[in-house]
Order: sequence, then structure tokens, then C-alpha cells
Amino acid sequence: MAGRIPQVFIDELLERTDLVELIQRYVPLKKSGHEFAACCPFHGEKTPSFFVSPRKQFYHCFGCGAHGTAISFLMEHENLSFPEAIELLAEWAGLEVPRDAESPGAEPTGHLFAALDAAMTFYVEQLKTTPSAITYLKDRGIDGNTARDYAIGWAPPAPDNLVRALRDRFSTEDLVQAGLIARRDDGTLRDRFRARILFPIRDRRGRVTGFGGRLIEPGEPKYLNSPESTVFHKGHTVYGLFEARRAETRLEELVVTEGYMDVVSLAQAGFHRAVACMGTALTRSHLDLLFRQVPKLVLCFDGDAAGRRAAWRSIEQALPVMQGMREVRVLFLPEGDDPDSLVRREGLDGWRERLDGAAVLSETLMRLLAERHPLQTAEGRSRFAHEAVTLIRSVTDPLFRGQLSELVAEQTHSPAARIETMLDDDSEPRPTRSPARTASAARANSGAPNQLWGALLTRMVQLPQSPWDAAEIQRLAETDTRAARILSAILERIATVPNISTARLLEHFRDESFFERLAALASLPLGDESPELSVEIALDSAERLFREYSRDRLRSLSAAARPLTPEEIQELKRLQTTLSRKGRTG
Ligand code: UTP
Ligand code: MN
Repeated sequence: MAGRIPQVFIDELLERTDLVELIQRYVPLKKSGHEFAACCPFHGEKTPSFFVSPRKQFYHCFGCGAHGTAISFLMEHENLSFPEAIELLAEWAGLEVPRDAESPGAEPTGHLFAALDAAMTFYVEQLKTTPSAITYLKDRGIDGNTARDYAIGWAPPAPDNLVRALRDRFSTEDLVQAGLIARRDDGTLRDRFRARILFPIRDRRGRVTGFGGRLIEPGEPKYLNSPESTVFHKGHTVYGLFEARRAETRLEELVVTEGYMDVVSLAQAGFHRAVACMGTALTRSHLDLLFRQVPKLVLCFDGDAAGRRAAWRSIEQALPVMQGMREVRVLFLPEGDDPDSLVRREGLDGWRERLDGAAVLSETLMRLLAERHPLQTAEGRSRFAHEAVTLIRSVTDPLFRGQLSELVAEQTHSPAARIETMLDDDSEPRPTRSPARTASAARANSGAPNQLWGALLTRMVQLPQSPWDAAEIQRLAETDTRAARILSAILERIATVPNISTARLLEHFRDESFFERLAALASLPLGDESPELSVEIALDSAERLFREYSRDRLRSLSAAARPLTPEEIQELKRLQTTLSRKGRTG
């Protein structure tokens, strides 16, 4: 997969990408010595143990061990595949991803997208000739234009319409993988969607990744979605984003609803800024995805108890990502209503009015807290403050955090300083840079070859721009050990890519079996070791490793039960000279 995108392009892309800037999009970073620190976005924590090195272009968390390059960050944080991470970085850098000529556009997912696209076309055609489905949409107020904009289709009731329509063009495997058909126990194939109105779910680029399908007769389940696949991840997808971006040239705000019909019905009324998280709870990934598009979100909830619980969960997800210019407002709808029913009853103006009345996040939070812990009694007020403080601790933006704690102080008649103290009173142990895990430990303990290799490779990976063309290293790289092959691969990259960074070096090896091992070495702290000292330690380790190797080799040559070849005799002599010479450290 990785091989299809030329390595030189990945190299250029990483050179143009600043990891600090990139991570800053997601987590606020604070300068900490030569690095930047933050609370780790990959696990819950209150004191920062996540560090980003601008020099290495590499991040590492001392709490959960997450580490990697800009590409790894996007893959993990955004749950993207490798090519998707490259696409996104390229988009940000304003570059076009080239593909190797032998395989034009042929990522493995290409077939799936093609199959999904063909399925969409098939379902759209089917709708045109199915009066009952058209009537259903008409009855719900949806006209032909809106159906076209959202590419709404119809899956006929027979068990294998799609199979028959697509089997000449796509392999069964692709259709199964795309979640369009399923194989029954008896081996026959069956369409996943039958007798349903279909809503194609498109990614930001407009590619169909999955479908949601609604029955038009009573039945269960009312909606059926595509299964998770390599291209469809419900927790990371919102419905309607592509259509909203296409309809609005300047998208500043998005309204998050629950269902397909909410989005479509609002669009029908002339409101094109709604998306839906398809019935699932709003996740951090949803929020990250949405905040990459717009700074302002309005979250809609049903006014009933279930709606309030959903609002809580969403607010908990939103607090940690609130920062800078971002804004979240919360709209509670009258009980039993959803945006679809509301806009149909009250029209576009009524909808807009309600939207204007949506309360900001902080206000909603105070209101929901006060519902749980009435403020009339001292007990209620302290419970209010306790629960509020726990929530506010997850807020990373210091300004917003301060504002919220002031609000809590006001509400609970407490001195602001007391709330601040409670906030800071964080009884969690601070993660320390355990000396046992530092690379210098390898130096103190430098007898074993593994530790010597660790000491050497750690420094080469972390300081690839230092001069590594020393004789000690060259000699070691020419030996026939497994580690030496890694060493020579590194040397070759360092020699061919000028000013290579740690991250760029590592990305040359993503498909190698030793990638993870090198990435782990890249995150070992070197303490306050100077670059000169690092080179010194590395050369020393290389020297010792070479002597070690020479000794072994000499031993096996001398012990050989057969006569040595002339080359081997030459080698034996060389080894003896090497070993009789004093090493760098004796
Ligand atoms: P709702 O049950 O609120 O339906 O589900 P709705 O959106 O108002 O749909 P209509 O108006 O009856 O047509 C909200 C969302 O939850 C998901 C769907 O994404 C739906 O749009 N859902 C619901 C399912 O995935 N499966 C279901 O069986 C029901
Ligand atoms: Mn509805």
C-alpha cells in the first residue's frame, strides 16, 4: 500500500509539514525546554506527559507510550489509513499525491469506492421507477431536487437485485467488503439493502463510503446502516458533510442532528448546514472532524430524559476540544420533536429562530448541573462544585477553563480561589521521566550487544543529521549481522536525503519489520546529552560492537574443522590486527 505512493513524495511532504503546528490543531501545546508538552490526546490524563520534538518531528507520550510521526499521529488520532493520512497532509500542504505509474490510482480501497459508487447509481435509477418509494418521499415533503442533491435511492425488495446488476463489473469479494452484499450459509449471495430508501453516506471528497436505508413500511430495524468496512467507520463519519460543503461556499457553522431525515428535510427547507451522526453518540473523532471544517457547532437534542443524557455525553466529549475560536451551542428541542418535524411544522424561519436561541456550552453545562444538584442548599452547591470541577479538569484551553471556574464560583457562592484550588488539587501522580528508561542507561550498562546496538541506533535515529560517516560505523555496517543490515539501511538514507529528520528517516522504514523497534528508540529520552556527546557514545558503541563481532568471527574461524580458504586466512589476519589494536576505549 505504502509503496504505491512514491517515497520521495512522502519525504517532501514531511519536510513541508510541521508536526508542532499539526498537533496544535488538535491539542494545545506548551513550550517545555526544547520540546512542546500537552495532555496526551490518546489517553485521559490531567498532567501533560505527551511531548512533541520539533527537531525530531516526532511525538511521544510517557504515560501511554504512544509515539510517532505526523503520519502516525493522523493515522491514530483520526483513525485514517496510511494513504488517507498522506492525502490529508497533502491537502494541508497544497500538494497533489502522485501515484506510481505502474498502478494508476490503484489503492486497494479503489475497488470498494468504485463498487459503492456503482451501487449508488443503481439505487438512484431504481428510485426513479418505483412510485411507492417516490410517494413515501413526497409524503415526507422531499422533492426531486433534494433527492437528487442527496442521491437518495431505492433498494428493491428482491433478494439479489444489486448482485445481478454489479456482478459483471465487480468481484464478489469487493461487493462483500464494501458491505453491499452478504454471503448466506448456503453460499448464495444476497443484497444487504432490500425494500429501503437509501441515503448514500459520502466522505469529504464525495466518495460513497456506505449507506443508510429506511424501511417505508413498519418493520425492524427501521434504519439499516452499512457495516464497518475499510472505508466506512460510523464513529468517524458524519452524514451530510459533503453536501453541506458543496451547498455553502462559506461554511462557518454546522448543526449536528441525529438522523438522515433531519439533514435532508432541513435541506429541503433551504437550510444546508446540517449533518447527522447517524444515531450514535457524538465521539471525539466526530468533533475533531467537524472542527476541522468550521469553528462553530450547534448540537441538537431531544428535550426528553434520553436527550438530556445524550447532551451530557456530548458535552463531556466537547470540553477537552474547546479552544481558541471554537464554539459549541446546545439546542434542546420540544419533547417528541426532531429537526425534521420541527422545520416542517414551523418552517425555515421558525427553525432559524430556535437555532438563534441555542444556549452556549457553558450555560448549558451550568443548567444541567443545577438540575442534578439543586443550588438551594449548601449540600447541593458543594456537590455541584465537585462535579463541575471534575468536568472542568478536562478542559485544556486555559482561558475557557478560567471562565468556567468563575461561573462555578458564582453559581455556588464560593470564592473563585477555592474553585481554582480544587481544580489544581490533582492527586494523580505526575508521570516522571523514569531514568531506568532513558537511553543513557544503555551506556552505563554497556556490556551486552543489544544494549550497545540500542545506544548506537537510538542516537542515529534521533540525530540523523549528525556526521555518521565515521570508520567505526562503516566497518560495523559491513558485518553480516541482522542489526548491521538495519544500520546500513539507515546510513544509506542519511547519505541520500540531505538534512533528514527523525520522522522522515523513520517513514522510509514503515513497511519494514524493524519499524516499530526504531520508532521506540526514537522516543527514548536522551536527557541533556549534547549532540557531540551523543555522537561520541554512538561511535564508542559501534567500536565495541565491531570488536565483539571480530572476536566471535575470529573464534569461529580458528575453530573451523576444515582448512580455511585463502580469503578466510586474509580475514583472520585482519581480525587479529583489529583486536590487537587498542579500541577507542581500550
Ligand atoms: P430516529 O429513530 O430518531 O429516526 O433515529 P429519525 O431520524 O427521526 O427517522 P424518521 O424520521 O423516523 O425517518 C435517528 C437516527 O438513528 C439511526 C439512523 O441514523 C437515524 O437517522 N437509526 C435509527 C439506526 O441506525 N437504526 C434504527 O433502527 C433507528
Ligand atoms: Mn424523524
